[in-house]
Amino acid sequence: MNVPFVDFSKQYQSVKEQVDAGIKSVCERGAFILGPEEKAFEEAFAKYCGVKHAIGLNSGTDALFLALKSVGVKPGDEVIVPSMTFIATALGVSYIGAKPVFADAEDDTCNIDPESIKKVITKKTKAIIPVHLYGQSATMDPILALAKKHGIAVIEDACQGHGALYKGNRVGSMGDAGCFSFYPTKGLGAFGDGGMIITDRDDLAAQARMFRDYGRTDRYAHKFIGYNSRLDTVQAVVLNAKLPHLDEWNNMRIKHAAYYAKLLKGVKGIKLPTVASDRNHVYQTFAVRVANRDKVIDGLKAKGVGALIHYPIPVHLQEAYADLKYKKGDFKVAERLSNEVLSLPMFPHMTKEQIEYVCMALKEI
Ligand SMILES: Cc1ncc(COP(=O)(O)O)c(C=O)c1O
Repeated sequence: MNVPFVDFSKQYQSVKEQVDAGIKSVCERGAFILGPEEKAFEEAFAKYCGVKHAIGLNSGTDALFLALKSVGVKPGDEVIVPSMTFIATALGVSYIGAKPVFADAEDDTCNIDPESIKKVITKKTKAIIPVHLYGQSATMDPILALAKKHGIAVIEDACQGHGALYKGNRVGSMGDAGCFSFYPTKGLGAFGDGGMIITDRDDLAAQARMFRDYGRTDRYAHKFIGYNSRLDTVQAVVLNAKLPHLDEWNNMRIKHAAYYAKLLKGVKGIKLPTVASDRNHVYQTFAVRVANRDKVIDGLKAKGVGALIHYPIPVHLQEAYADLKYKKGDFKVAERLSNEVLSLPMFPHMTKEQIEYVCMALKEI
């Protein structure tokens, strides 16, 4: 048996009719940027997240970059980001010419540790970016309290957390802004790149809307130097068709995670993901922790199981950030996690047999 890391072919079948008809209509009209489908998706996604505004963009990376710009982060400012994340969390900070300041991870949730944030706040800190890693919210209350106390903005990186809840709140809705990616493998994935900023703040929404569209106030009137970062109409068609299924697909992921946990319970050398009691986990990524990870991943590949590592190098040790002069040992938890985490196949339409095969392969290895 082969078990791919992800397979969205069945998911496509469940929305095919609406997607195909919608794309055909866009092609026939020949209007491909923003448009009524995009506006409808912004409205639906804002409602789903329980916020006032949603601004469709071309990627999650741009969502982070433009959210930081929209809250007024400037060159030379500092922005606190977790080291245990995808590098894009820090890239938006760097695009501005601001400085990413890294913080360590919590051992249980793998998310940014509020205690570590406390240690690196300075007078130059303008924002914190908690990441809802793998599909489980960061520990938001202490982060929001710290931000309030110091007058710092909170920009949530919800690129892996579509639909996840923290104390009943959707991730992305708790800070000044929330940033989403619609990269195809995400919980809500487009058929290409896409992203979104959500916010309750009118000022921030107005800024972000102009930034994504050349700083435009009218067709050929430009208030400041903006960017070209808009959500394509065909991607909005796909996302409109998929959004009503998001909760159902997240629940399918949650069921698969429970089945994995049942089959892997007590297996020596494997630690299952921990879910904190005040939030849920939507398992955009199902990351276990293993000893001898290289051996395990090679063994899984030999048995036809797709497995990946998210992420093998913590961002403070990436060559791209060598100039910041971080060194091994600076963030012990993030460094240990990056040696142990192993992402197993996870997608809503996977079968019981596929999960059983992955677990059998893991046990044999
Ligand atoms: C945590 C995190 N932040 C940011 C991004 C960037 O999103 P995108 O690939 O849409 O630019 C991703 C996804 O790739 C991500 O997983």
